[in-house]
Amino acid sequence: MFINENFFALNDNYLFTEIERRVNEFKRKNPDKSVIKLGIGDVSRPIPKIIVNEIKKAADEMADIKTFRGYGPETGYDFLKSTIIENEYHNLNIDISEIFISDGIAADIGNILELFAQNNTVAICDPVYPEYRDTNMMNGRKIFFMPCVAENNFVPQLPNEKIDLIYICNPNNPTGTSLNKSQMQKIVDYAVENNSVILYDGAYEKFICSDNVPHSVYELDNAKKCAIEFRSFSKSAGFTGIRCGYTIVPNDLICNKSHVSLNKLWNRRQSTKTNGVSYIIQRAAQAVYQAKKECAANIKYYMDNVKVIYNGLKEAGYEVYGGIDAPYIWLKIPNEFSGWQWFDMWLEKIGVVGTPGIGFGKSGEQYFRLSSFGNKENTLEAINRIKNFALQN
Ligand SMILES: Cc1ncc(COP(=O)(O)O)c(C=O)c1O
Repeated sequence: MFINENFFALNDNYLFTEIERRVNEFKRKNPDKSVIKLGIGDVSRPIPKIIVNEIKKAADEMADIKTFRGYGPETGYDFLKSTIIENEYHNLNIDISEIFISDGIAADIGNILELFAQNNTVAICDPVYPEYRDTNMMNGRKIFFMPCVAENNFVPQLPNEKIDLIYICNPNNPTGTSLNKSQMQKIVDYAVENNSVILYDGAYEKFICSDNVPHSVYELDNAKKCAIEFRSFSKSAGFTGIRCGYTIVPNDLICNKSHVSLNKLWNRRQSTKTNGVSYIIQRAAQAVYQAKKECAANIKYYMDNVKVIYNGLKEAGYEVYGGIDAPYIWLKIPNEFSGWQWFDMWLEKIGVVGTPGIGFGKSGEQYFRLSSFGNKENTLEAINRIKNFALQN
């Protein structure tokens, strides 16, 4: 038996474990001190009642011989696909055959790599959601990192080498920054010219507030010839625990070397390796569109928090990025501190926890991520502590 030795090149996934370890150690030594976590990337608002009622209704259907359902279609029920197309892509001409329902996009983002040969070159923004890097490292692919830092306005620069797979997370986790339509169009033009594929992660699409940021990559000219889009209900509707997302693989996306349709390959892969997402969960996802108002209110709750963090840090005199189209703030930390030193200082002096940017890539070294997914009271308290601390130092 031989194992995939590419796994040896991966770091231990220690970032959040290490944060937990340091916080627990601090709490053990200081049981009376309160600690506020602005580090998490998980939602905290409960699921709207309309959605929960649909889950109960769908569960009841399973108990009735007339409405019981067994295996569903591997790529998802048409009722959910057409609801998504109607609500998310109504003037973008996405066909029902182009949409694939899944149990969240973390799986799709990793699994899609099965369609691509190992010798493809890959470009990934740095810093970014670590899954893109790790899944390609597991396959032993050559990765070009595209630094996204304040000096280049967090806009990735494609390398001179020809790139086959380009990852874009827009709006970006962890920087909370976004690419506008003209910046995205340049990347699409590059991909069309070079027969590259863009893997476009729109996990934070519902947080977009700026008019000129695309909600879908397919708003850009020719994107159907070169882009796969991933969208999730996790952050948009609080489904991190419920689990549902979808991937769009356009029929126009053809590999010019082997003249093969990526849609057909993905369909073949999914139909072989999955029996689909639970009927009950797909009814829950459909109900997200009945609960648009409630979901939007939850997003507003987080975006109000993000404004509190952004404005508070600015008032405290810090250099701050992100937070306009995303629930994340990217704080520039002074050069004399490392991310972990900053982490320890805030934890010990004011009991506020964030995430060192280095956990998301080398170019995150001088930054610190703060998330707005916590509750309002804690967010206000954390910002007061940060401001007081900054004034005293
Ligand atoms: C950028 C990005 N993509 C994908 C995911 C995973 O989404 P899902 O919960 O649908 O698997 C996350 C989760 O934090 C994320 O931040």
